[in-house]
Formats: sequence, structure tokens, C-alpha cells
Amino acid sequence: MTMSPTMPTARTGGLCVVILAAGLGKRMFSQTPKVLHELLGEPMLGHVLAAAAGLNPNRLCVVTGHGGEAVERYVDQWARRNQAALAGDRAPTCVEQPHQGGTGHAVACAQPVWRDCGEVLVLYGDTPLLRTDTLQDLRRARGDGALSLLVGEPADPTGYGRVVRDAQGRVARVVEHKDADDATRAIRLINAGMMCVTTAFLSDALPRLQPNNTQGELYLTDLLAMATARGQSGAAHVVADRAEISGVNNRLELAAATAALRDRINRHWMLQGVSFDDPATATVEPSVVLHADCQLGAAVQLRGATVVHPDARIGAGCVVTDCEIGHGVHLLPYSVASEARIGARAHVGPFAHLRPGTVLEADVKVGNFVETKKARLGRGTKASHLSYLGDAEIGPACNIGAGTITCNYDGVDKHKTVLGRGVFIGSDTQLVAPVTLGDEAYVGAGTTVTQDVPAGALVVTRAPAVVKAGWVARKRELRALRATDGTPAKP
Ligand code: UD1
Ligand code: MG
Repeated sequence: MTMSPTMPTARTGGLCVVILAAGLGKRMFSQTPKVLHELLGEPMLGHVLAAAAGLNPNRLCVVTGHGGEAVERYVDQWARRNQAALAGDRAPTCVEQPHQGGTGHAVACAQPVWRDCGEVLVLYGDTPLLRTDTLQDLRRARGDGALSLLVGEPADPTGYGRVVRDAQGRVARVVEHKDADDATRAIRLINAGMMCVTTAFLSDALPRLQPNNTQGELYLTDLLAMATARGQSGAAHVVADRAEISGVNNRLELAAATAALRDRINRHWMLQGVSFDDPATATVEPSVVLHADCQLGAAVQLRGATVVHPDARIGAGCVVTDCEIGHGVHLLPYSVASEARIGARAHVGPFAHLRPGTVLEADVKVGNFVETKKARLGRGTKASHLSYLGDAEIGPACNIGAGTITCNYDGVDKHKTVLGRGVFIGSDTQLVAPVTLGDEAYVGAGTTVTQDVPAGALVVTRAPAVVKAGWVARKRELRALRATDGTPAKP
């Protein structure tokens, strides 16, 4: 039997990804650990975990330190969400680094996790733009050698470790900026930090690292000089898109990384047949699925598990979270929808608010300033203006007049409103739940419905109108009289 390279084999095989995330992140000025700051709805660490998971590793491990408990909670939550892809031994685990002893020390702390694997890929939790393909290239660059390094040429190499190459272009050693002389600092090629290394070399070399540098730390990068001394210089893989290796250290870099990720996602969808009125302002989270011939307006935000079916149009400024938007739906500008299902060809908004549990069947119309929550509107039903429909089961072909309110809450419990098919609700109606209206029931404008209405019946609660002819003129005369009398006229 031949084994695929990613299958676990006792003590000799498989890939372990180690993500370093113990750093403090001082420059974020935050109570939140750096790697938990979000880009497009997901912490930086989640983006790195996703890129790593794309390699289908045998082991996946996060080294925690500062804010370790919060990071561990997040990793657990990520593992639950991605259970289908990475279960059992493959699920990510956390290893605590008790003190900041340097990148070499951090990788050593994870040794119990990578010990039985053949190859270790070291990543940083604060480089969220890294792609799975690039990591594959880095692994491939190692070939049969001991290690390979991801390198690049940023606009400004200050602060990075410089890559010193030998005559064959292999990595002779890496010199940290703080330890480098002027000649070495003039080198533009830098170490991005990601490394692919055999466990055989790693377990032998790590215990030999010495903290004899300006920071007094165990530098993982010293492995390169050690490999060279053994005649096994590291391979360099030069990253094509240098945005991929930019780390996030402050809010400015977080915003820049967010913009770069947004740009990458929007370009992807445009090349898949989705039109963007203004791709610079539209936010589509990585988890969202779009189909061809959709059109997205300026500043739309599509979040979470949202799916948009073909021919849907989402107007400017809409915020859509965890929704299914049907074929040919038209969501007019500035509508907000969460955990809602919108059926084919429905028209929604402008300024509609669809809250969780909303289901609009095909051809429904929900107009401006309509709020729905746990409400199902049957096929072709219209609620065109200014309404609140909560805890409601509304049949097909109903007409919900302007200003209709389901009074679903009695101060303690929620109650349901049920409407049959073809029910007509006149404007300014209150439906006091629990209440049921039969098919084609008819509610007169201004009614407060407090009891069930049978099919085909009219219900109307209306105080008789009082009309007093000539009342305005009489009132005016009375005011004038009071004024001459010296009595001040009432306003
Ligand atoms: C490191 C590299 C440098 C490279 C740069 C790229 C070393 C010695 N230097 O430098 O060559 O150009 O990254 O950004 O590796 N971490 C821990 N535990 C530690 C120390 C660090 O988990 O004890 C984590 C940090 O949270 C971070 C990563 O490792 O995610 C890198 O650490 P950092 O202190 O940023 O290293 P640099 O000085 O930037
Ligand atoms: Mg750094």
C-alpha cells in the first residue's frame, strides 16, 4: 500500500503546523490579545488557522502566552466550527509558552505535539494574509533538504531578520535587525518568519540554540546557520505577493490588512461573475458564497454564512448577516437583515429590518420601515410600509396595511399571530397576540384585533365619528371675546 504524504505514520510521517501566538502585541494598546483582533469578521488567528487547515495537516498547534486563556477559548470555538474538516488528532490544540523565550523556545514548547510528525511548518498568528498555496510552495521548496524559509522584499526592511545567501542562492544564515551591522542591514531580502523544517533536524538543533544575541532569546532563525554548518543550507521561497507576509502590529496595519483581504475577496468574486458598483467599499466576508450575475451596491456588507443566489441585487449600504438571499431578490438600499431567508424575486426595503427567524417566501414585498422577527410571510404577501411583524405566521397573498403592529409581547411572554391566506389588514391595525385570522378575513383600518376572526369575516373596532358643523368659527369667536375682556386667550 502506498501512503499519501499527509497520512499519519507512526513517528515518521505527516505534517505538523505550529502557529506562534504568544506575543504581547503592545502596539495594539488593547485588552484583547493581538491575534484575536478581527479582519472581516474573523480574528487574525482564524485566517492563519484556515490557511493551515488547507494543507490538511496531521497536527495543528497554537503556542499561546499573553492572553492565553482567551486565545484557547477561541481555538476551541474554531475547532468546533471546523470539526468536519479537522477532527480527532487533527483538531487544533494549544500549548502554553510559560515565558517569552524567543521563537526557538516557542517551537520547542510545542515539541510534544510535533514530535511524532515528519515535518513542521512554523507560522505566525499575526500574518493573516498568508495563503495555503504559498505554504504549499514553501513546503515544496524544502524538497529533501532540512529546511526552507519564506522570504520577501518589503518596501522597508527595517526590523526584519535579513537573509544572507550563499553563492548558490541558498540561505546561509538569518541575522536579526537588532544584531545586524550596517552592511547586513543594507540587504533588502528579509525573513518573513514562516519556516518548513524536518522534525529530525528540529529535534536535534533546537536544544543547541543559544541566547547569545541582543535580545537574550532563543532565535528560531539561528537554525539556518546551523544547517549551513552541516552543509545543508536552507532553501528560500520568495513570496510573489508581498502583502501576504505583512504582519500586523498596530491598528494601522490591521486596517491595511483588512483592505488587502477585502480587495482579494472582491477581485475573486468579480472574476466569478459578480458585479460590484464600488469594490473599494463593499465588504464580503470570506465565509460568504455568491453566485454569478449578482450585483452589489456601494458599501454593502455581506457577513457570516450568507449565500446570495444568481440575479440578486443588493443595494447600497445593506448589511446582511447569515442570510440566504434567493434568486432574483431585490434588496433595496440601507436594509439590514440577519438570520433571514428571502425567497426568489422578493423585494425588500429600502430601510427594512429583517431580524432572526424571518422567512419571506417567493414574490413577497416588504417595504420601507418594516421590521420582521420570527415571521414567515407566505408567497406574494405584501407589507409595504411601516410595520412590525413579530412571532407571526402569515399566509400567502395577504396585504398588510401601513402601520400594522403585531402586539406579540404581554410584558412576560411572547405570543403568536397567525393569518390565513389572502387576509387584508387595513392601515394602523394592532393584532393583539395570541390571535388567529382565517382565510380572506378583512380588518378595517384603525382596528385593534383582540379576538380570533373567522375566515371571510370583517372585523372593525372604531369609535363613531363626531362631526360638529361650524365648530371652528365658534371657537375663534370665543377666543376674540376673551381677549377684549382682558382675559388672556388660551393658545
Ligand atoms: C521574527 C524573526 C525575524 C523575521 C520577523 C518577521 C526570529 C528570531 N526573528 O522577528 O527574522 O524577519 O519575525 O516578522 O524568529 N513569539 C512567541 N514566543 C516568543 C517570541 C515570539 O510565540 O517567545 C511569536 C510572536 O507572537 C509572533 C512571532 O512569534 O507571532 C514572531 O515574534 P516577534 O517577536 O514578532 O519576532 P520578530 O522580532 O518580529
Ligand atoms: Mg514581529
